[in-house]
Amino acid sequence: MEGYYRPTAAVISLDAMHDNVTAFRSRLVPGTRLLASVKANAYGHGAVWSARTAVAAGADYLGVAFLDEALQLRDAGLDTPVLVLGLTPAAAFEAARARGVTVTLYREDQLDAIERMSAAGPKLKAHIKIDSGMGRLGVLPGPAAERFLERALQLPQLAVEGMYTHYAKADEADKTYTAMQAERFGSVVDYVRRAQLPIGLIHAGNTAAGIDLPPHVGGMLRLGIGMYGLYPSGEVRRDEIALQPVMSLRTRLAHVKTLSAGEGISYGTRYVTEKTERIGTLPVGYADGYSRMLSGKAEVLVRGRRHPVVGSICMDQCMVRLEDGPAGDGPAWEPDEEVVLFGRQGDAELPVEELADRLGTINYEVTCMVAARVPRVYVRGGEIVDVVNPLLVR
Ligand SMILES: Cc1ncc(COP(=O)(O)O)c(C=O)c1O
Repeated sequence: MEGYYRPTAAVISLDAMHDNVTAFRSRLVPGTRLLASVKANAYGHGAVWSARTAVAAGADYLGVAFLDEALQLRDAGLDTPVLVLGLTPAAAFEAARARGVTVTLYREDQLDAIERMSAAGPKLKAHIKIDSGMGRLGVLPGPAAERFLERALQLPQLAVEGMYTHYAKADEADKTYTAMQAERFGSVVDYVRRAQLPIGLIHAGNTAAGIDLPPHVGGMLRLGIGMYGLYPSGEVRRDEIALQPVMSLRTRLAHVKTLSAGEGISYGTRYVTEKTERIGTLPVGYADGYSRMLSGKAEVLVRGRRHPVVGSICMDQCMVRLEDGPAGDGPAWEPDEEVVLFGRQGDAELPVEELADRLGTINYEVTCMVAARVPRVYVRGGEIVDVVNPLLVR
């Protein structure tokens, strides 16, 4: 399938994504719903294909960070409920209502703005956010939350469909803080029950809670990183669920040369060959999301073996030292040979977590960093089913 010309691509296994969602679904207490978090272009995997795949695997809701991301899904023909997890400015409420997108509310001035909207036509759908200890968005538990809920439920323009909170430390082995958050959120839930407030969907859990604390998830699991086959941290119970990484970043050698000892590589010649070395050039660089901070730290897979990245990573290219024999009699490396920057190659694996560790960050950020100019190649049943390349949209 045509759709990109440079041999650098993020290959997305729709089968792995489908299996990951199904694996989480099968762990849920019957009746528990599942929201697939496809914000940030589905953590770099491509929002539309990820949303379609999650819905096909049984997701009831889609989660995004802001309204524009929700509208992208609507424009692609997805009519599944979509919850905006972040701020929706008052000026966007009419657009959300018109497209049937559910917003998150937590500020009194949001309710003031809704009060001023026309009560005719469809209601604006909303979930109320409670801040139980994340310190990010949400009404604080106690009288503030109670007043907010009561007021929201009285607005004829509004359909309050849910209430939720977010855990700050569910991915850590010590669950004390999460238990404290669950208790605080529980006090608001108790109030809702006592006052018989009609709020149907009360939810709390992310991937980490879905793995380690299924009972704390409430009525809906908000699944993000796990759907992409990655664990939220090294501290969750991996033995609870087997995940398959969905994305791999792949390219091909653009050039191979033999350099004698003492030759400088890349800007600043921060790497100088120590002996006669085979140097391969890759057509991928920091503008593709392969951070310059990986210079001299990362490895790649070629023919299932690791080779170090040498010299500074450039904007569009970088260099690797290809394995050689003791007397310069190593393999005859050829241009166009496949290179894996993260993911599997045959039996070898270079996990995305390795790059994250070397960058001092988390797996979430590495897949999010893969730039828009890198085509997403979607594979199902061993066949390429689509290529999404924003550069060649005609
Ligand atoms: C409110 C909310 N819920 C759920 C998620 C999904 O989290 P995870 O990717 O850890 O499963 C996120 C992601 O950051 C979030 O912000």
